[in-house]
Amino acid sequence: MEKVKIGLLGMGTVGSGVWKILKTNRDEIIRNCGYEIEVSKILVKDLGKQRDVDAPDELYTDDFEDILSDDGIDIVVEVMGGIEPAREYILKSMDAGKHVVSANKALIADHGKEIFKKSKSKGVMFLYEASVAGGIPVLSSIRESLAGNRVEEVMGIVNGTTNYILTKMAKEGVDFESVLKEAQDKGYAELDPTADVEGYDAAHKLTILGILSFGTDIELSSVYREGITNIQPIDIEYAKELGYAIKLLAIGKDRGGDIEMRVHPTFIPLEHPLASVGDVFNAVFLKGNAVGDLMFYGRGAGDMPTGSAVVGDIIDIVKNRNNIYYISNSRDEKLVKPMEETVCKYYIRIMVKDKPGVLGKIASKFGKNNVSLSSVIQKGRKTPTVSLVFITHNSREGNIQEAMEDILSIEEVVEIANLIRVENGVDE
Ligand SMILES: NC(=O)c1ccc[n+]([C@@H]2O[C@H](COP(=O)([O-])OP(=O)(O)OC[C@H]3O[C@@H](n4cnc5c(N)ncnc54)[C@H](OP(=O)(O)O)[C@@H]3O)[C@@H](O)[C@H]2O)c1
Repeated sequence: MEKVKIGLLGMGTVGSGVWKILKTNRDEIIRNCGYEIEVSKILVKDLGKQRDVDAPDELYTDDFEDILSDDGIDIVVEVMGGIEPAREYILKSMDAGKHVVSANKALIADHGKEIFKKSKSKGVMFLYEASVAGGIPVLSSIRESLAGNRVEEVMGIVNGTTNYILTKMAKEGVDFESVLKEAQDKGYAELDPTADVEGYDAAHKLTILGILSFGTDIELSSVYREGITNIQPIDIEYAKELGYAIKLLAIGKDRGGDIEMRVHPTFIPLEHPLASVGDVFNAVFLKGNAVGDLMFYGRGAGDMPTGSAVVGDIIDIVKNRNNIYYISNSRDEKLVKPMEETVCKYYIRIMVKDKPGVLGKIASKFGKNNVSLSSVIQKGRKTPTVSLVFITHNSREGNIQEAMEDILSIEEVVEIANLIRVENGVDE
C-alpha cells in the first residue's frame, strides 16, 4: 500500500481528533483515496505533556524544521491555532512545495489573501474546511457542488458557545451572566469568553464564508460585529411573543452591487429553519440563484467533528495533488457596504417615564428620520418607567441611528434598552 506522509502541527483537541480518525477509519480512507495516510511527525510546544492519544513518542518534535526539512512529508496540517508562528509555518511549508490544510479561522480571516497567493504561486493546495462550522462540509459545497450558482445570501449560526447560551436563556428565562458561568463550568465556554460572546469568532468565519460565497476579497475589518452580552431575558420574551427567536447570526448578502457583511444578534421568525438550531449546534443557511434555499446543520466544534473536516481536506489533496486545482481566490472587486447603508427591520426597546404623550413624541422622531413603524407594544403600566417596544418596517441603519439620538433627547426617555435587527420579517 502506497503511503502519503503528513506532518501535524499541533496535537490538541483537533490534532488528536485527526489522529484518532486516521487510525479508526484507516480502511475507509484507503478505500476512498487509494493511499494510506501516515502521520510521520507531530509538532507540539511541550514534549513532556501527558496526552490521551496513542501516538508513539518518536513522532513528536518541538522543532518545526524537522517537518519542513523532511522531503517525505507531502502535506502539512496546521491545527495549532494562533497567528504566529502558524502563519510563518504555513508559508514556509508552501515554499518547500508542501500542500497545507488548516483549521485556523482567525489566521485565514486575517491573512488569507497572503496565504492564497502563496499557494497559487507555489502550485500547492490550501484547504481549510474545518475553519468554518467545524464538521459541517459547507466550504467544499460552496466551492464545488454549488460552483454553478451565484450565492445571494449566507446566514449562519457559526458559534456554538453563543448558541448554547441563547438557547438556555430562551428555555429557562435566565440571564446572560448566569448561563455564561454555567457554560464555563461545563467547558462549553472559555474562561476568557470575549472571542465568542463579542462575535469575533463569528466574524472570522463570516469573512471566510463571504470570500468563498461572493468571490471577492473581504477584509475582516469591514465586517460589522456585535456580540450577545446585551441580550436580556425580557428581549427573548418579547421575541417569542412576536413570533421570533434571537440568534447570533453571521449574515452575508450579495444582491448585486455592494455586499453586506455583519454579525449581530438577530430576530429570526420561529418558522425559519435557523430558529430551531439549538444548543452548541451550528447551521449555515444559504440561498443560491439556481439551487434556491439550502441548510447545512451539524457540530461546529469538538475533536472528532473538526477532525472529520480536516481529514476530508487531506483526502481531497491526496486525490488531487497531481492534478492541482486552485481555489478561486480572487476575482471580482466587490465592496462591503458601510453598516449605515444596510437596510432591515428593527426591534427597539425603549424605557420611558410613564407620562401622557411620550409615545407620540417618540413616533414623531421615528417619522422625522424616515423610519416607519410596523408595531408598538407597551408593558408595565402603573410603574414609574415602562418598556415601549417598536418593530420597524425596513429602514436604513443610518436613519435608525439618527432616530435613536433624537429619541434620547426626549425628556421622558430613560434609555434605549436594546436594538436588535430583524431578518425575514412578515412583511418582507
Ligand atoms: N477545538 C475545536 O473544536 C476547533 C474547531 C474548529 C477549528 N479549530 C481551530 O483548530 C486550531 C486548533 O485548535 P485546538 O482546539 O485543537 O487547540 P489546542 O487544543 O489548544 O491545541 C493546540 C496544539 O498546538 C500546539 N502548539 C500551540 N502553539 C504551538 C507552538 N508555538 N509551537 C508548537 N506547537 C504549538 C500545542 O502544543 P502542546 O500540546 O504541547 O501545548 C497543542 O498540541 C485552532 O486554530 C482553532 O481555532 C478548533
